[in-house]
Amino acid sequence: MEETLEAFNELITEGKVRAIGASNFKAWRLERARQIAERNHRQSYSAIQQRYSYLRPKSGWDFGDQVAANQDLFEFIEDTGISLVADSPLLQGAYTNPNKEFKEQYQGPDTDIRLAILDKIAAETGATRNQLVYYWLMNRKPNAIPLIAATTDEQFEEAVGSLELELSEDMLKAMTEAKF
Ligand SMILES: NC(=O)c1ccc[n+]([C@@H]2O[C@H](COP(=O)([O-])OP(=O)(O)OC[C@H]3O[C@@H](n4cnc5c(N)ncnc54)[C@H](OP(=O)(O)O)[C@@H]3O)[C@@H](O)[C@H]2O)c1
Repeated sequence: MEETLEAFNELITEGKVRAIGASNFKAWRLERARQIAERNHRQSYSAIQQRYSYLRPKSGWDFGDQVAANQDLFEFIEDTGISLVADSPLLQGAYTNPNKEFKEQYQGPDTDIRLAILDKIAAETGATRNQLVYYWLMNRKPNAIPLIAATTDEQFEEAVGSLELELSEDMLKAMTEAKF
């Protein structure tokens, strides 16, 4: 980790890179990096990219090398102010594409209740499920930057449309608190 940070900092010093980010790091590894960087007067990671969507992986989930955002990470982010980038926010399109299924890890106890609240707010606002997922990621605390991986212009327009949404605090709260 010391070597990696040293190499990244050389790129920053040379002006080739402005800031550095990590992905699939648990909170303790980010904290270790932060301490090493501080000790060596180097820049540490200013962003973390993690698997993160509106549906919550069920307890004991396993994504192989991928790490999902969890409460430890949220607390680290709130404490340090680093940015959270959400990858796979649409769960490969499963929120809206009837030909795709949510991975088994996402078929947890609060999946049905969360999908029901998405559909309720979608009916009330005219937004799509995908737009609500992006909106929630961008507006809940700590907020995240969703990675958009649209494959058509229509999907891109739908994604960008989430920036125009204005949901009430009650709606955002209802989405966040929808739990089994
Ligand atoms: N760091 C890591 O370990 C890691 C892991 C996974 C992914 N990533 C990165 O995360 C990014 C997102 O990847 P992902 O495919 O997993 O993202 P995603 O948000 O889970 O799924 C994107 C897919 O959803 C469908 N879709 C339907 N409506 C959409 C809309 N309005 N906007 C965007 N997509 C829509 C499309 O599939 P169809 O074309 O089938 O309709 C699209 O390819 C990529 O840049 C990827 O490299 C990083």
